[in-house]
Amino acid sequence: MAVISVIGTGYVGLVTGTCLSDMGNQVTCIDIVEEKIEKLNNGILPIYEPGLEEMVERNVAAGRLHFTTSYAEGLKNAEFIFIAVNTPPSSVAGGADMRFVESAARMIAEELDHYAIIINKSTVPVGSGDIVSRIVRNNLKRPDVTFSVVSNPEFLREGDAIKDFQNPDRVVLGSSERDAAEKVARLYLPLRATIMITDIYTAEMIKYASNAFLATKISFINEIAQICERLGADVKEVANGMGYDRRIGRDFLDAGLGYGGSCFPKDVRALAHMADEAGLHPQMLHAVMEINHDQRRLVVNKLTDILGSLRGCVIGILGLAFKPNTDDMREAPSLDIIRWVTAQGATVRAYDPVARETAVEAMKLHSISLDNVTFCETAYDVAEGSDALVLVTHWNEFKSLNMQRIRESMRRPILIDGRNMYEPSEMTNCGFIYRGMGRGS
Ligand code: UGA
Repeated sequence: MAVISVIGTGYVGLVTGTCLSDMGNQVTCIDIVEEKIEKLNNGILPIYEPGLEEMVERNVAAGRLHFTTSYAEGLKNAEFIFIAVNTPPSSVAGGADMRFVESAARMIAEELDHYAIIINKSTVPVGSGDIVSRIVRNNLKRPDVTFSVVSNPEFLREGDAIKDFQNPDRVVLGSSERDAAEKVARLYLPLRATIMITDIYTAEMIKYASNAFLATKISFINEIAQICERLGADVKEVANGMGYDRRIGRDFLDAGLGYGGSCFPKDVRALAHMADEAGLHPQMLHAVMEINHDQRRLVVNKLTDILGSLRGCVIGILGLAFKPNTDDMREAPSLDIIRWVTAQGATVRAYDPVARETAVEAMKLHSISLDNVTFCETAYDVAEGSDALVLVTHWNEFKSLNMQRIRESMRRPILIDGRNMYEPSEMTNCGFIYRGMGRGS
């Protein structure tokens, strides 16, 4: 059993802290936002993540998981201190804002009164481990105290975060002190995962390179999808055929609306920025971003191809979150699509199983007028009187909709399947004018 502190109670911090406590460790999660901690102490989670609420409840009840706003209390006797604060995009185009990581490092320095290993889980520009080290060293309240810094990038997917924590493909640890990295490795031993120990720069780079590679796979298949559409091939079958080749793999070859969320867009931009700063011109990363942006436009183009002008049209949006099983609206394609179709004079009816509140907040944040958007209680309500339906997020519940009923309640039977969720022939037989993404139609 280890004594662990986790700074930051966002996705990464809360999932990491809760899963580590579930493995029998004593964990205290620290966050400076009082409201968040108060809610957590009352069993209310700041995020939607399947299975997390029950796990938090279980470990709090067992006395292994605590929440506090006090660094003094949270760092007491901690052998391991995880920094899991967010690194939002900075005002410098493409850069990563290190403010929260830096202030966490300063707070640690002010309270630390014993040796501890500081582990960075936040996605930070390559070289940030040195910055954390320097900040802690320069601000130590007790200069006799020693510490080590280890980079331990996270590879959790929202919506699958617990599963990903418990069954990682690999655990990456980077440090200039092998002993410290090995101690952190022991925390993960019960997971029986491949553990890789390397230097800190390389560990930080592995995170960016992994996300950028996955984003590249997505943009690649989206480009192929466009070619398929022109040449009459079906990109879903193409991806399946490619995926049987083990060197390629089927994962992350789903063509659609491109990647959103808090990670891929930010990390690809940040990596390109780091490369630009280093005097390079990372052509592929720039192409990946460009294709991703254009992908969302295609949906609006498909609508105008069929409807002509969108003025006065009612566009139904199925799904708002950037992907299923989350209420996260960061860089969600739905935001751009709603902005573009309302700018062309359409009104929107939208439904998402969990992201309604976060969608309203996101729209306000991005100055998208709520006047022309009606939030509905079900997918069937969305369809009522719509001129076209756009499937934006492939929530499971949309798979089993009664499509006959949907079509009958629409003003015009147009279905744009932004995630290739439905079978084109079935939808056409059902009477829809169906358009997928790269499916030869
Ligand atoms: C991603 C990575 O998968 C995690 O390994 C990483 O830890 C995380 O970023 C992070 O850096 O924190 P996440 O953003 O939660 O996780 O979501 P993914 O499931 O990877 O999906 C990312 C985006 O790609 C979504 O918008 C999804 O719709 C899109 N996508 C994914 C596709 O368009 N096609 C695909 O085939 C797969």
